[in-house]
Amino acid sequence: MQFGPHVAVLSRFAESHLTGGPDDALIRLKLDHSLRVLDNAGRILSAEGVSGHMADLTRLAALYHDMGRFPQFAIYHTFNDRDSANHARLGVLALRETELPPGLPERDWRVVRFAVAQHNAKAIRPTLPPGLTLPVTVVRDADKLDIFRILLDHFEGNGERSEAVIHRLEDAPDRYSDEMYQAILQGRIGDYRHMRYANDFKLLLTGWLHDLRYHSSLALALERDYPARLLAQLPDDTRIRRLREVVLSRVRA
Ligand SMILES: [Fe+2]
Repeated sequence: MQFGPHVAVLSRFAESHLTGGPDDALIRLKLDHSLRVLDNAGRILSAEGVSGHMADLTRLAALYHDMGRFPQFAIYHTFNDRDSANHARLGVLALRETELPPGLPERDWRVVRFAVAQHNAKAIRPTLPPGLTLPVTVVRDADKLDIFRILLDHFEGNGERSEAVIHRLEDAPDRYSDEMYQAILQGRIGDYRHMRYANDFKLLLTGWLHDLRYHSSLALALERDYPARLLAQLPDDTRIRRLREVVLSRVRA
């Protein structure tokens, strides 16, 4: 499949939301993110030995997964779904309303839209039909991998520091919430409702390491040193040192 026309459609869609103001950097960041998620999805698929039509649809879903971010920011001036609208749903609407490159039957677009709709759900149904499991799970892993990169750039001070990126959390360098800490230590997924400090976001991301579906996704995360870099951003106290040991031995196992 030719991905060029699809990249062109998404780029034009993103650029139609530029305003000439300082927030344009955020629009470009989301377009760049979409392209990197497409790339991550391709890497996961080839490492898993998956090719053919389903692999193509999965990559399309990866490319379009955050299409809703552009109207979300234009309408609500935030990327926080709780303060605005579910950007996955906005993405499905945008896909329905945009003129897309020809050549795919509606049933294929339904697969793409389903994966877009599910990409940010806290958990997915354990019993998806086989034709939907691959696009949903690969897009979710590919997305998480790039979110690690964006947030690490932010926390390490290399990226554009932006409140829109970290959702206005309290930046108390030594504090984190106990609920979040316990969840991650026990290998569970953290809950957004327990996020209060910037460190809680780092803990939440650490928890995502347990939620990657594919071995090759975790391999990519390790290759890019995301687990150790993430843990290095947390305060250096006894409990975090314990967490570091537990998480690193878990992901390297
Ligand atoms: Fe998203």
